[in-house]
This record gives sequence, structure tokens and C-alpha cells, in this order.
Amino acid sequence: MCGIAGYVGPRNAIEVVYDQLKRLEYRGYDSAGIAFLNGAATIKIVKKAGKLTELGKALGDDVPDAHIAIAHSRWATHGGPTDENAHPHFDQFEDIALIHNGIIENYAELKADMVREGATFHSETDTEVAAHVIGQEYAAGMPLEEAVRRAIRKMRGAFAFVVFSKKEPKKFVAARNFSPLIIGLGDGENMVASDVPALLPYTREVVYLEDDRVATITTDGVTITDLDGKAVVVVQHHIDWDIAAAEKGGYEHFMLKEIHEQPEVVRMCLAGRIDEAGKVRLEQVFSDQVWHGIDRVNIIACGTAYHAGLMGKYLFEKMLRLPTDVFFSSEFRYSDPLLSPDSLAVFISQSGETIDSLAALRLCKQRRIRTLGIVNVVGSAIARECDRTIFTQAGPEISVASTKAYTAQCIVLELLALYIAQVKEMPGVRVDENVLELRNLAPKFEQVLLVEDQVRELAVKFQDAKLAFFLGRNADAHAIREAALKFKEITYIPTEECPAGEMKHGPLALVEKGTLAVFGATSSDVREKLASNVREIQARGGFAWVVTTDDDNSLDAIADAITKVPTTSDPYLNALLSAIPYQLFAYYVAMAKGGEEIDQPRNLAKSVTVE
Ligand code: AGP
Repeated sequence: MCGIAGYVGPRNAIEVVYDQLKRLEYRGYDSAGIAFLNGAATIKIVKKAGKLTELGKALGDDVPDAHIAIAHSRWATHGGPTDENAHPHFDQFEDIALIHNGIIENYAELKADMVREGATFHSETDTEVAAHVIGQEYAAGMPLEEAVRRAIRKMRGAFAFVVFSKKEPKKFVAARNFSPLIIGLGDGENMVASDVPALLPYTREVVYLEDDRVATITTDGVTITDLDGKAVVVVQHHIDWDIAAAEKGGYEHFMLKEIHEQPEVVRMCLAGRIDEAGKVRLEQVFSDQVWHGIDRVNIIACGTAYHAGLMGKYLFEKMLRLPTDVFFSSEFRYSDPLLSPDSLAVFISQSGETIDSLAALRLCKQRRIRTLGIVNVVGSAIARECDRTIFTQAGPEISVASTKAYTAQCIVLELLALYIAQVKEMPGVRVDENVLELRNLAPKFEQVLLVEDQVRELAVKFQDAKLAFFLGRNADAHAIREAALKFKEITYIPTEECPAGEMKHGPLALVEKGTLAVFGATSSDVREKLASNVREIQARGGFAWVVTTDDDNSLDAIADAITKVPTTSDPYLNALLSAIPYQLFAYYVAMAKGGEEIDQPRNLAKSVTVE
């Protein structure tokens, strides 16, 4: 999710890559750096924590001339946002400089081996490890692209690299495995970037680098090979997006882009956390002894993160039989909460800066309660202040209406539950089965996105709705709360959300002819009961849209509209997959109503730093 830029050609390469990073600013980042050669025999690296302007200040007004440069804006994953952790990174001989997007899953093992052999590292990043691995190969005297190919064979994970060497100063080498890289083709100049907007002012002719490909880029052209060094055909594309649209990757809004990023988010969130033996690996959590002693979990969060917490409660109690409560942060701190000394307080936050959650965290710390953060933004206050933090690795979320962060939070909660089950060796929990479902989840997120056209058609019919019900049972009773929040915050249509069985105790009074009721029906054990609730709505003239799993036909005949999500053997993941149709529905109803404010709905902010 970081920004990558590289240039070789007659222009001032430093100015070009700096400008390219500026065009990637919308992605969000916490530090930036640049490496260049300006005729001297050594590569120069300048890098700074903070905004791009900090890097600009460090470069100064009198930017040196350079014909080749690579630059990077980092969104921290391994190690906080500091000058040292910012990219580029040198290898051990300072022959090459490398920038990287993604995660090297086996970096800790690789690093330990190299430390044993005497290597010194200057950062906490997995990227510096990758630079050293390439450097080691390169020291044997082969061309840079061959060193990259050999190094890739030693690394596991999702990544995109750009690297250049002082010994071969007229080229840089780019490689891709999952993380995007696009090569821009110019006239006597060539470049590379992680996203199209960075290239558009310079060229509209591009090559999308594919997985397991290594590209050599010079002023004269581009050659691409597979990992065996065999040449592959370079397929050129013409881009005709305008620059503003391109920042959103061609999507009209960041919200839609982020909805579509979720398969990738699932991959990033799981990266490095499931080992080859199918065991969950969570670094930086408590010792086994601590997990054995925890008698209760309190999840504390706001908004969407609170809804992820409700999903967490469902999971922790069902899978682990561990009593779990979920609190709104704003209520928690004034409620004089009853906290057992052996409880664990879990703080979920995308931004890591939400003031209500931060205040609740400080209260727990005063009361000497153990705290664990589930946070997206590395270096944020909640991430820093929790005893331990697990990062959701969802990349920057720009749309105020949260989508991909929710999915990542729910996945981390499942990883955590499985990790605890593993530590406690709970005989009733099939960790291996659940891990397999997690491993197969990203393609299921790809599949569920195919409901988009169907959901768009349905949404258009409800642009004038006065009220929408969101109903479900079991895991769906939690999932529909997030669905309702998404819907109200961008459509401005009021919602009524409650467990489906609760309708007849009051809210049913609001149903009239044409009232929309969205039913989450992915929980198979309560479907028959839910069918009765569907009929209750219809008997009063309401319209029932049912979201269920694709192995279920029991509701086909009674639903007024039905959408199916891929089935897993884990009811929690089935309910999580249903988030996609709900998010798309909210988006397309808002679009049908004009769609001007979708990314920044009225009265709302991305990060709520006031009480
Ligand atoms: C939901 O779409 C909102 N963005 C909001 O409810 C958000 O989840 C809440 O403000 C909590 O923010 P946090 O995750 O950054 O702490």
C-alpha cells in the first residue's frame, strides 16, 4: 500500500520521482525517502519520517542533478514510522538501494541467519532484510536482475521491489509478487510506479508488471523475464484516464475502490500470520501463561470498530467459551466499569487516534488492566499506548465510511481467537479447519464482489426509501448492525436495526407498504426462524431483501430479492462475507441519490479526535 516511484532518463530524476510521490499522496503514508546517483560513485539516500514536505526540506532548494532515482512513501508495517525505517534501504555493502511495497513473511528467519553471519541492520524493516538478501547474491558478481531473481527464491510473501546499483548505474530492476507495479514507457526515458497517477504527467503508455516477473528498465527500453531468466513478451497498454479519476484507480469514489480492495486486504492481513504447518503466528502478543490466565475479554471501540467487536464477542464466546463484553468507548470511561484483574481489554481502531477509545485505554492502564490494540495505523496513539498491538495491515483507508478496515479487524479477531485456542490446546476447536477457510477466503471475497451488478439494480429501487430495516439472527444479528451504519451514513436514510426476533416486540410498528427490510440469513441454524420473520414483514406490505449463502435454497421462494455469498464452513466468515453486498447496496443507493458526498458524508470525519 506504500508509494513507489522510479525514473531513468534525461530529466532531473530527483524532481521527477518527488513529483510522482506527490501524486500518490492520496494513499496516505507516514515517511518518505529517495535514493539517487548524480555522477558520483556512491548512491545517496535521503529519507525522513512525516509528510513528503519533510523530505522536500531535507533535499533543500538546490536539488542536485541526477539521471536515475527511486523514491518511496511508506505506510509502516514492520517498525514504526521513523527516519531509519523509511525506504530506500542499502544492502550491507551499500552497492544497491531498494524500495519495497508488501511484506516479506520470512524476514525474521532470513535476518537471524544474516546476523549470525555478522551482518548489521539499521532498521526494523523487512525491506532492509530484502536489500541484504539481494546484496548477498549480487556480491557474487552476477548482473543485478539475476541477483534479484535468486533473492526472490529465498523470500516468501507479497511484494514489489525496485532496486538499482552503483555498479550498473544506467538501469533499475523491478520485480513483482502480488503487490502492484506499473512501468511507464517514455521517449528516451522510462519509469516505474505503484499506481497509475504517478505516471500520467509523463506518459500514458504503460506495462502492468505481472507476478513472478523481473523487469530491467533503462533509458532505451524495458525487458521482462520470468524467475528463470526467460524473456517474456512485454504487453503495452494505453491509459486514457484523467488524473483525478486515476487517483481513485478509475473508481468514482474511494469507498468503491476500498470495497474492491478487500480480497487484497484479506491477503495482506493474513500475510505472515499462518505458517506452513497451518499454525497461527501472531508476533508481539502475550506469553502462553498470560493467555491461560485471562478470564474475560472486554472489547472497547467506536462505530464500525465497535461492530467488529460485536463479531469478536460472538466468536470468542462460541469458539473459546471465553466471556466477552463489548463497550462503546464513549460509555466505557464514564461507566465505572467492573474490570477483573485477569481480564484483557481489546481496543479496536482503524485510525488509532479516536479520542474516546484512547481515553478508555488510559483508564484501563490506570486500573492496571492488560491492553491489546487491533489497529490499522502504525505509530498511532492507540498502537503506541497499548501493551501489545496487532496491526490489521489493511493499508490506508480514505473514505470516511469504513469498509476494508472492518473486514481486516474481523479477520484479526478470528486469527486471535484461533491463536488462543492453539495456545490453550482446546480440543473442541478445529484450528486446522478454520485456518484452511482463512487461507481460501481471499478468492471468496473476489467471488462475492460479482454480486455488484445485481445489488446496483436493486439499490436504484430504494433511493426514495424513508426507512430501512436491517435484521438478522446469530452472527448476522451483529453483521447487520454494521450494514445499517454503512447505509445510514452515506444515504442519509434512517435505519432500524435489531435481531430479527426482536421486531415483534416493538419496531414492527414502523413497517408499512413498501418498507425495505434487509435480512442477513447466512447463519444456517436459525434460517427457519428467520423465514418467519421475513413473512411477518411481508404480511405488513414490506419488501424483504435476503442475503444468504450459496448453498441455501430455502429462502429463494419467499424472498422478494435474494443475494448469495460464497459458503464457508465457518458461520463467522459467512457473516463477514455478507458485508460486501451491504456495502455495495449502501454505495449504490447513495449514488442513485446523487452521490456527491459519498467519501465525506455530511457531519462526519475520518478520525474523531474530539469527545
Ligand atoms: C464508520 O464508517 C466510521 N468511519 C466510524 O464509525 C469509525 O469506525 C469510528 O469513528 C471509529 O474510528 P476508528 O476505527 O478510527 O477508531
